[in-house]
Amino acid sequence: MKIYNKNRPHTIKAMFNSIAQKYDRTNDVMSFYLHRHWNHELVRRVQHDQTPHTIMDLCSGTGDIAFNYLKYASVPCEAYLVDFSPEMLSCAQQKASILPLHKHKIEYVVADVQRLPFENQTMDCATMAYGIRNVHHPFQCIQEVYRVLKPGGCFGILELTRPQNRLLRFGHKLYLRTLLPILGRWVTKNEDAYHYLRQSIHTFIPPKALEDDLKKAGFIKTGSYSLAGGIATIITGYKPINYS
Ligand SMILES: C[S@@+](CC[C@H](N)C(=O)[O-])C[C@H]1O[C@@H](n2cnc3c(N)ncnc32)[C@H](O)[C@@H]1O
Repeated sequence: MKIYNKNRPHTIKAMFNSIAQKYDRTNDVMSFYLHRHWNHELVRRVQHDQTPHTIMDLCSGTGDIAFNYLKYASVPCEAYLVDFSPEMLSCAQQKASILPLHKHKIEYVVADVQRLPFENQTMDCATMAYGIRNVHHPFQCIQEVYRVLKPGGCFGILELTRPQNRLLRFGHKLYLRTLLPILGRWVTKNEDAYHYLRQSIHTFIPPKALEDDLKKAGFIKTGSYSLAGGIATIITGYKPINYS
């Protein structure tokens, strides 16, 4: 893709700024609402034994993951929505204003997820949905999350991936190549953004390699959970209680 390239992060930022207002509607149309179920599944998986009180949602975009989390939290929480696109965060802020989230503290942080503006060991939990694929140095981001999480904290990544099954893989490829650009052009009027989406799914490392990166950064009890035959995958890991 000529215009949008994750090796030139300013192009990715510009792309998300330009599609922010239409992002939610496009997601609904292009995933046939499946992403709502996947988002819910990510939130369920990071809410382990106890409800984490301090959460950061990285590449938070219009805030669906964080708001989903807060909606079901039984205690007041602090949520930090981190994204380098001010437009996406502004949409998130508008959305929050009409949701019943008043008991929670919500902060909108414009920052690069490769350099998190938080102190060491300050967050109970971190989520990242459909974001890591767009980050220039994913491992640097994973290391940052490890630094900022408290011991015992959980990191959950949700990402679009390629199915393993050959038939599904063929159908998925066909969808990305034919229907996706048409839907992208129709809803956002920005066909290039959806060429980028297709290319980024194709070239991103497989879930197993991402899970290995989590281990390499120090995460333990890692797991990988395939959704819809592998069209999406959740990868989780925990920062050890006693770590060096
Ligand atoms: C596909 S959207 C995902 C939004 C949201 N997590 C969701 O579930 O719909 C990816 C988001 O990642 C952000 N992003 C990409 N690279 C980033 C980086 N290096 N630092 C911060 N945000 C980044 C983009 O601005 C965009 O809002």
